Amino acid sequence: MAESSAHSGPRRRWQKLATLAGIFMALGVMFTLVSYSVTLYRLFCQVTGAGGYTARAAADTARQSSRMITVTFDTNVASDLPWRFEAVQHQVRVHLGEDTLVFFRAQNMADKPLVGHATFNVTPEKIGAYFKKIQCFCFTEERLEPHQAVEMPVDFFVDPRLASDPDTTEVQQITLSYTFFASRQPQQAQELARFEGEKPSAAAGQELFATVCSACHELDRNKVGPALRSVVGRRAGSVADYPYSPALAHADVVWDAATLDKWLADPRGFIRGSTMPLTLPDRMRRRDIIAYLESLQVSRGGRS
Ligand code: HEC
Repeated sequence: MAESSAHSGPRRRWQKLATLAGIFMALGVMFTLVSYSVTLYRLFCQVTGAGGYTARAAADTARQSSRMITVTFDTNVASDLPWRFEAVQHQVRVHLGEDTLVFFRAQNMADKPLVGHATFNVTPEKIGAYFKKIQCFCFTEERLEPHQAVEMPVDFFVDPRLASDPDTTEVQQITLSYTFFASRQPQQAQELARFEGEKPSAAAGQELFATVCSACHELDRNKVGPALRSVVGRRAGSVADYPYSPALAHADVVWDAATLDKWLADPRGFIRGSTMPLTLPDRMRRRDIIAYLESLQVSRGGRS
C-alpha cells in the first residue's frame, strides 16, 4: 500500500486514518471511525498545505455516535470579486464525531491576481455558537493568480454532544455557508493554493487499485466486476459478456473523471439499482485511482 512512498501531509494523514479505521474495505461502509471528545460542539476544519496541518491529538479517545446529521455546504461570492467558488459536494451525511473530508473549489476568473477573504456562517444559529473554532480558508486573505483554480480540502467533524443537548438534539441538518469577498487588505494575502492537496498520483492510484479494486476487477478480463483497462471514455455498462445489472447496462453515462468520481464515491447513489458494493469516500483516493485509470488510457491510446 501507499505507506512506503514518501508523501507529504495530506496523504500521510489519510494513511493514518486508514490505519485507524481499518479501511479497505468493509464493503459499502464509510471509512472513518475516528471521533473525539471535545468540550464544544464545533465543526472543526483543518487545513493542509504549506502551513502543514495541525497534528490532531492522536490520543483523542474515539467515540463515534450512530446518530447521523446532514451537513450542507453553501458557497457565495460577493459581486465585487470575479471568482468562482463552489463546494465539490453539496452535502454530506455523517455520523456525529465522524471525521469527514470535503472539498471546495475556487477559481479566479480575472486576468489579474486577486485577493479574497472568506467568512462563514452556520445555521441553525444555535449550532453556530459552537463553530467558532473553524480554521480554514476563512479569516485569512487569500490570493489567486489570474485564472488559477484550486481545490481545498476541509476536514471536519460534528461533536457528538450535539445529540445530548436539549437545545440542539433535534437538529438534523446543519448548513455551513461561506462567502468570499474582495479583500480590503490584499497586501497581507497568502496563496490560496497552499491549501491544495497534492496532485493526483497515478502511482498511488495503482497501489490503491491493487489493494481495493483488484478483489473484484482486473484490467483485461471480467471478474466479479467488468474489466477496467479502457474504462475512461467508455460507456457505462458496455463491456461485452459482462453480466451488468440492468441499471448499469442502461445507464446513460460515459466514464470520465467526473462520472468516475461520483461512481466511486457512491455507486448505488449515482446509478440507482447498480450493484457495486463499495464506496470510496476519500476524494483524494478517488483522484489517485482515476489518475491511474486515465494513465492506462494514455499508454494504450485506445478505447474499447
Ligand atoms: C466487491 C467487488 C468490487 C470492488 C471491490 C470494486 N468493484 Fe467496481 N464493480 C463491481 C461490480 C459488481 C460492478 C458492476 C456493477 C453493476 O453491474 O451494477 C462494478 C462496476 C465498476 C465500474 C463500471 C464499469 C463499466 O463498465 O461500466 C467501474 C468504473 C468500477 N467498478 C470501478 C471500480 C474501482 C476503481 C474500484 C476500486 C476502487 C472498484 N470498482 C471496486 C464490483 C466491485
